[in-house]
Amino acid sequence: MANVVVVGAQWGDEGKGKIVDWLSERADVIARFQGGHNAGHTLVIGGKVFKLSLLPSGIVRAGKLAVIGNGVVLDPWALFTEIDKLAAQGVAISTDNLMIAENTPLILPLHQDLDKLREDAAGKAKIGTTGRGIGPAYEDKVGRRVIRVADLADRDTLEARLDRLLAHHDALRQGLGATPIDRAELTEKLLEIAPKLLPYAAPVWKVLGEMRRAGKRILFEGAQGSLLDIDFGTYPYVTSSTTMSGMAATGTGLGPSAIGFVLGIVKAYTTRVGEGPFPTELLDEDGQRLGERGHEFGTVTGRKRRCGWFDAVLVRQTCAISGVNGIALTKLDVLDGFKTLKICVGYEIDGVRYDYLPTAAALQARVVPIYEEMDGWSESTQGARSWAELPAAAIKYVRRIEELIQCPVAMLSTSPERDDTILVTDPFAD
Ligand code: IMP
Repeated sequence: MANVVVVGAQWGDEGKGKIVDWLSERADVIARFQGGHNAGHTLVIGGKVFKLSLLPSGIVRAGKLAVIGNGVVLDPWALFTEIDKLAAQGVAISTDNLMIAENTPLILPLHQDLDKLREDAAGKAKIGTTGRGIGPAYEDKVGRRVIRVADLADRDTLEARLDRLLAHHDALRQGLGATPIDRAELTEKLLEIAPKLLPYAAPVWKVLGEMRRAGKRILFEGAQGSLLDIDFGTYPYVTSSTTMSGMAATGTGLGPSAIGFVLGIVKAYTTRVGEGPFPTELLDEDGQRLGERGHEFGTVTGRKRRCGWFDAVLVRQTCAISGVNGIALTKLDVLDGFKTLKICVGYEIDGVRYDYLPTAAALQARVVPIYEEMDGWSESTQGARSWAELPAAAIKYVRRIEELIQCPVAMLSTSPERDDTILVTDPFAD
């Protein structure tokens, strides 16, 4: 049975929510394996809009198990705010449909403080984070001082963890001119949330392993995008987790052999939120038009997204690193009405041609994109459900993308509505 990993192949916001929802109907389990509530997935089901940050998208569907894996960093207060919001929309969440890995690290208010303090102190050199405490929580995880879900079950363990954690954070806060942490207040907050959170805790690696052996279908839902990956992204303007497909295995506790199909989500143009290099960024009318037509505002922070032409060099690179078997191409309809479209097919840096984005920040800053121009189309592609409904120029654009990124289109999405999708290959098919 093929299990499917979905990853964003650009800088996030590729339209993963809709595709994951479409696939989750076919899956038994939907698991998040990295990131936290910095993600923003919008689902439109039957005209109803659901906005998710931390919970796996499958949570809105009855009869599915949603899993938060150990690779995630979990803000328990944000979790229950999201659960309450969904409950108000008629989505019931209980231990029957949500499971959290016991070894998941917690994001605490002190992580958010540090995220903001650092961004403020950095001035122009800021990363442009979502301010959710993601980076500081991952730092504490690898620093072996984070509090994990299971630690909440035992007061002595919790106190010992707090000793290590606060010694570190108080020193940092002092350096940044902030007040020390109120330990009593934090302990009380944690002890208060513990009985709410602990019923969801489980050995996810074991449960998922058993479900896999029983032939259940698992959908691994990636967050952010490949170019925000801590190793392969545009460092340091990245998030603090591994956003590539390999993380699905270690972020839930299943071996890599559990992964059958890797689906890369790719937007028909490019966007990014926050700071950092963006070779095909458009600061002109075309960029503005992409932003307006594509409603390019962040789901989590409401920030305006930077927009640009499709960059085939970057997508070829991320598809290779994640071992993408097929892509879901989204938001093609946003390009309707452009007379001419440009696709970046290579870079020039100091007169030398590159077919990949080099790692050195100094080179990235001097990248000049090499474009290929294609005819646009005046017809509407919105809502198309078959190739026959697409104008010839749109099909040509899609085929050229496949050729350049060396990866086939498995799905094509032509509107936020889930059924406005052209299926070429079912990722769950064996
Ligand atoms: P952090 O993940 O909050 O540390 O932010 C680091 C970088 O990742 C910033 O540039 C954010 O804008 C970006 N980022 C984080 N999550 C998302 C997302 O879900 N979509 C797009 N960008 C994101």
